[in-house]
Amino acid sequence: MPYPQPIEPLLTAEAPRTRTAIPRRLLMCRPSHFDVHYSINPWMHPEKPVDAELALAQWETLRALYEELGHTVELIDPLDGLPDMVFAANGATVVDGKVFGARFRHVERTAEGPAYLDWFRDQGYQELCWPEFINEGEGDYLLVGRRLLAGTGFRTDPRSHAEAQEFFGVPVTGLTLVNPEFYHLDTALAVLSDSEVMYYPAAFTPGSRAVLRELYPDAILATEADAAVFGLNAFSDGHNVLLPQAATHLIDALRERGFAPRGVDLSELLKAGGSVKCCTLELRDRA
Ligand code: ARG
Repeated sequence: MPYPQPIEPLLTAEAPRTRTAIPRRLLMCRPSHFDVHYSINPWMHPEKPVDAELALAQWETLRALYEELGHTVELIDPLDGLPDMVFAANGATVVDGKVFGARFRHVERTAEGPAYLDWFRDQGYQELCWPEFINEGEGDYLLVGRRLLAGTGFRTDPRSHAEAQEFFGVPVTGLTLVNPEFYHLDTALAVLSDSEVMYYPAAFTPGSRAVLRELYPDAILATEADAAVFGLNAFSDGHNVLLPQAATHLIDALRERGFAPRGVDLSELLKAGGSVKCCTLELRDRA
C-alpha cells in the first residue's frame, strides 16, 4: 500500500469576499456655525484660522457621497453658539429605534445633548432616555453586530456603560482609551461589518487591546500614520468605507478585504478633531 498523499487544497489563496452595502438612515448637522474658538482636545488650536466656507463645502461633499451611495441623510438644524454640533455622532446612540441621549463632558457642548434629544422627540421616537451619566453618543458607543463597544478614558463615564446595557438590552463591552489624541472610541476604532472592525492598538490600554484581539482576531490594525490622519474615523455600509483620504495604508488593507474604500477630505473639520464618522449618526430604527 502506498503511503497516502496529502490532498492538494483546491484553492491556494482565499477568494476575495463579496460585500453587500446595506442602505442606512443617517443624521447629519450642517456646519453653518462651525469654528474652533475653544480647545477640548489636542487637535483644536483656536489661534489657527478655520476656513468656514471650505468646511461647508467639504461637509456637503460627504453628504452628497452618502446620498450617491444610496443612503438617506436626515438633517438637524445647527444652533448658533454650538460650533461642534456638526459632529452629529456625539448627539445620541440609537439601537432598535431606542434613543440613548448624550450628556457631554465639557460645558461648551452640554446644550447639544437636549438639542439632539428634542430632534428625536419631534421625529416621533418613543423610547428616549435622558441618561444619568456622561456619555458622548456614538463618539464612544459603536455597535458591532449585536454588541455595543463602549469607550471610556477621556469623555464617557464608565458608569454609563452599565446604564446603556440596561437601556438597550445588548451586551456592552468597555474599552479604555489612553492617548488624548484619540479621545473618543470612534477616533481609534471603526466598525466595518457585523463582525469586523479596524483599530489602532496603541490608543488602548493593554487589557483593552487583549479584549479586542480576543473578539476580533482578524481585525485590520491601523498604523500610527493611519491614526494620525484620523483614518479610523470611518463609516462603513458593509461594502463602501468612507474615510479620510490620507489614510493610504488602511485604504489598501480595506481593498484587499473586498471593501470599496472612498477617500474623503475633511481637513477643516479635522481642526476640531473630527472627520467622517464624527459627522455621522446612524439612525438604527426598529426593523
Ligand atoms: N471638537 C469635538 C470634541 O472635542 C470633536 C468631536 C468629534 N466627534 C467624534 N465623534 N469623535 O468634542
